[in-house]
Amino acid sequence: MSEPQQALDPAKLPRHLAIIMDGNGRWAQRRGMLRAAGHESGADTIRTVTTECAKLGLEQLTLYAFSNENWKRPRTEITFLMRLLRKFLVNERPTLMENDVRLTAIGRLDDLPAPARRELDKTMELTADNGGLNLCLALSYGGRAELTDAMRELGRRIAAGELAPEDIDESTISRALYQPGRDPDLLVRTAGEMRVSNFLLWQISYAEIFVTNACWPEFGVDQLHAALRDYATRTRKFGGLVDPQPEALHG
Ligand code: IPE
Ligand code: IPE
Ligand code: MG
Repeated sequence: MSEPQQALDPAKLPRHLAIIMDGNGRWAQRRGMLRAAGHESGADTIRTVTTECAKLGLEQLTLYAFSNENWKRPRTEITFLMRLLRKFLVNERPTLMENDVRLTAIGRLDDLPAPARRELDKTMELTADNGGLNLCLALSYGGRAELTDAMRELGRRIAAGELAPEDIDESTISRALYQPGRDPDLLVRTAGEMRVSNFLLWQISYAEIFVTNACWPEFGVDQLHAALRDYATRTRKFGGLVDPQPEALHG
């Protein structure tokens, strides 16, 4: 029998959770199914995880749904994913509203096919006043592309005489990103790969990292709680000391 699960301490939850949702294809192929079936099942996981994060009172859940580099995949897979995205954006509206979730997005959204982009805009508009969880979808997203776009924007402001180079500090750069706000406290990756795959490169500088072997379609409330319980045990130091010694002891 499994151990009774420890309750989560609300004071020790991450305020911003970011997830690299990986392993849809492998999950399906291991079951003799097409990769597409894995993506479909992965969309169900998004609903489960979003609803649970909203219930737990997290402020933000950022999900890596489609990277800039994913455009390299076969045309048929891309078409399937974009149709699935459009369907998801329409079907999830009642669940998002019920759970007071605000949908937002980061990435080069203009690269999305028009029907998906249209439903994205509609869902963002519909949920804009919801005050609970911010569900941020990273779509056609790349960390380097985001930094490139931010630098272009800062360059434009310098050329227009609105900004002096010496006035650029870390907060100027943070504010020039797609969605300024709190950096992720916890980064979860499913399907076992120990890499960040160009996700939120600037924002994860001090995120705690949790990698699970579970593929995204098999990630559920139990796995989410396991990641959150693990996070609760972490000591975040941000380069400082947890228990600084009196100055005199350092000589
Ligand atoms: C994640 O699953 C979904 C996307 C990247 C769109 P994958 O499609 O990467 O699944 P694997 O990694 O091939 O198993
Ligand atoms: C990262 O997964 C991108 C998303 C989850 C959307 P990938 O499957 O594209 O990453 P790599 O290719 O294994 O690094
Ligand atoms: Mg993958």
